[in-house]
Amino acid sequence: MAYNLLKGKRGIIFGALDEQSIAWKVAEKCVEEGATITLTNAPVALRFGEIQKLGEKLNAKVIPADATKMEDLEQLIDQSMEALGGKIDFVLHSIGMSINVRKKREYTNLNHDWMQKTLDISAISFHKLMQTLYNKDAMNEWGSILALSYIAAQRVFPDYSEMAEAKALLESFGRSFGYHFGVKKKVRVNTLSQSPTWTTAGSGVKGFKDFFDYAEEMSPLGNATADECADYCAMLFSDMSRKVTMQNLFHDGGYSAMGINPSVMENG
Ligand code: NAI
Repeated sequence: MAYNLLKGKRGIIFGALDEQSIAWKVAEKCVEEGATITLTNAPVALRFGEIQKLGEKLNAKVIPADATKMEDLEQLIDQSMEALGGKIDFVLHSIGMSINVRKKREYTNLNHDWMQKTLDISAISFHKLMQTLYNKDAMNEWGSILALSYIAAQRVFPDYSEMAEAKALLESFGRSFGYHFGVKKKVRVNTLSQSPTWTTAGSGVKGFKDFFDYAEEMSPLGNATADECADYCAMLFSDMSRKVTMQNLFHDGGYSAMGINPSVMENG
């Protein structure tokens, strides 16, 4: 059911790789709620992913951009404003990748060159994106910028490895840039900390099924799905959340507030 929450708004959505991607669901939801959007992903993902299909379905221009490259981000933002016919109202950063996780390195034996790359792709890209939007004055007043995070930023999940540090950095960039964007541009910046979700990035984490099942059992409302995440993102992009900023917002069925859940003890 649509509420026209984003009628007349213009957005940029990063990170739709395939139908499982959280960004894919967010893009569909935003258009359903009345927004016009551009879609973007790394050039290599454009070649191998299915994003063009989504672009056709949603009538959205697909613009390649490596989120670690300032010149790509500048082009993306210029082309988006041109395609959408004005300044931007909302942006979703839905990007995560760890080379050490992909190569199954133990946390106590990480390759630090790969770690730099992980931090650049998964966290510093958020700063680069916001800096580009800020300096181009590309955001409309009362706009909303959002990045996806995970609770390993606050608590230890050993198999999440260096992505924990990447998420901690990402959340910190959200708070710090949220100040500057708020004071100067009346734009809000938040991170959304999502339940484990079955996607390419998610299932790349060792033992993901156990992760997922444990969180499902611990959360009084169960894990939040990608579709539910899309609902929450649409609300956070809408005028219904204008004074929410510099927050890390848990979207996890209550998981983050739990200590012990008796059902986990019984079934464990
Ligand atoms: P996904 O694999 O579908 O999305 C990750 C995206 O990052 C892909 O589209 C990929 O092409 C893109 N990407 C990688 N390097 C890039 C670069 N240099 N430039 C631009 N884009 C690049 O997986 P998912 O799960 O939808 O991930 C989206 C976000 O949600 C990530 O930040 C992830 O950490 C976060 N998240 C995922 C959870 C899960 O369990 N799946 C839980 C909590 C947060």
